[in-house]
Amino acid sequence: MTTTRKSIHGQWSNRLVFILAATGSAVGLGNIWKFPYIAGENGGGTFVLVYLVCIALIGVPIMMAETMIGRRGRQSPINTMAALAADEGRSAGWVALGWMGVIAGFLILSYYSVIAGWALSYIFRSASGAFLNVTSNGINSIFTNLVSDPEKLLAWHTIFMVMTMIVVARGVKHGLEKAVRFLMPALLALLLMTVAYSMTTGYFMEGVRFLFTPGPISGQGVLIAMGHAFFTLSLGMGAIMVYGSYLPRHTSITQASVLIAVSDTGVALLAGMAIFPIVFANGLEPGAGPGLIFKTLPIAFGHMEAGTMIGTAFFILLVFAAWTSAISLIEPAVAWMVENRGMNRIYASVYIGIFTWLIGIGSVLSFNLWADHTWSVPFLFKDKNFFDTLDFVTANLMLPLGGLFIAIFAAWMMKESSTRDELNTHNVVYRIWYFLVKYITPIAVIVVFLNVIGVIEL
Ligand code: PHE
Repeated sequence: MTTTRKSIHGQWSNRLVFILAATGSAVGLGNIWKFPYIAGENGGGTFVLVYLVCIALIGVPIMMAETMIGRRGRQSPINTMAALAADEGRSAGWVALGWMGVIAGFLILSYYSVIAGWALSYIFRSASGAFLNVTSNGINSIFTNLVSDPEKLLAWHTIFMVMTMIVVARGVKHGLEKAVRFLMPALLALLLMTVAYSMTTGYFMEGVRFLFTPGPISGQGVLIAMGHAFFTLSLGMGAIMVYGSYLPRHTSITQASVLIAVSDTGVALLAGMAIFPIVFANGLEPGAGPGLIFKTLPIAFGHMEAGTMIGTAFFILLVFAAWTSAISLIEPAVAWMVENRGMNRIYASVYIGIFTWLIGIGSVLSFNLWADHTWSVPFLFKDKNFFDTLDFVTANLMLPLGGLFIAIFAAWMMKESSTRDELNTHNVVYRIWYFLVKYITPIAVIVVFLNVIGVIEL
C-alpha cells in the first residue's frame, strides 16, 4: 500500500541533496580519525576485511532499510517507529528503537565533539607553521600538550558544540547542500595528496601490506570491525532514518545507498593508506590509539611542498566533515522535540546542545585528569576509561543492536507489500535485499555478540 505522509520539516529538493547529506553524515571522523586507529589496534588485514564484508552484507542492506522506514514514516525516528508499528499492526513498544537511537546520538556526539575539537585546534597549529619539518617526537609533544590540558580541550569542545547547534537550529537542509558539494571533493583531493606523500616515504607497501594482509584477530576485534561498519555509515541510531524522512518519494534508495557506502569506504581506505606508511617510516606504533592521525599526518604536512597550507586546509576540511556528521547525530532528537513538544528548532537545539556538551566533559577529562579511572565489564571489555567506554558501548553495542532491530522490523514486522512499495526497486534487487535483512544481518549481528561474550567461538 502506498502512503501519503508528508514531513512537517520539509523535503530535500532532490535525490542528489539526500545523497550529499547522507554522505556528509557518513563521512566524518569515523573514516579519517577512527578507522585508522582501530585498524591499527586490531592488527590491520583481517580487521579491514571483516569491516569490508560487514559494509557490504550488513551496512548497505540496513542503510536501505533505515532510509525506507524513514521515508515511509516521514517523522522523527521515534514517531516514525510509532506510526509504522501502528500501520503494520505491531506492538507500540517499537518506539523504544527510536529512543535508543536518540540516546546513542547524544552519547556519540558528546565525545565526537571533543575529537572534532582536536581537529579544530590543529587548524591553528598547522597555520602557525608548528608542523614545519616536525619530527615524531616533536609532534608527540604537541599532541600531548593539547590533550593533557583540560581547559584547552573544553574550550575547543565548546566551540564545536556551538557550531553544531547553530546549524541544527537553522535546519539541516540550510546550506548543507552547498557545503557538501564542494567539501567532499576537496577533502578527497587533499587526502590523495597525503597518500602521494606517503608513497615517497619508502614505506608505502609496508602500509598497504599492513592494511590488506590477513592476520590473527580476536573476537573483540570482529565486534569492533562490525560496530565500525555501523558507525561509519551512521547506521542503527536514526540519523539515516531521519534523513530518509526528508527524501522525495520517487527516488531510488538502492542506488543512493550503494553510492554512499562506496564513497564512505573509499575515504576510509585512503586515510589508512595515507597514515600507515607514515607510521612505519617514523617507527611509530600502529596501535597508538585515538591520537594516531594527530601524531602522523602533521609529519606529512611538515615535509611536503606547501605543507603548511595543505595541512591547514586538511584540518579545516576534517572539521567540516565532522560538522556534517555531528548535525545528523542530534537531528533525530531535535525533530522529535519539534514534533512532540511543539518547540521551535532553536530552543530544541540549545537544550540538546547543553545536555550533550555536559556529557562531553567526561570525555575531555578522559585524556588527562580521569585517564586512569578505568573499569571493566566481564565478557565485554577491560580497563576502559569514560571516553573508551562511551565509544565502545555506542559503536559496538548500541548501533549494532539498533541495526539488528531495524532489520527485524523491516523484514519480519513490515508486510512485504509495504517494503516492496516503498523500496520500489528491481525484483532481483528486492529479493537480495530481503534475504540479507531477513536472515544474514540478524544472524551475523547475533553471532558476533555471542562470540564476544564467549557463548560460541568463531
Ligand atoms: N558516520 C559518522 C563518521 O563516520 C559518525 C556518525 C555515527 C554520524 C552515527 C551519525 C550517526 O564519522
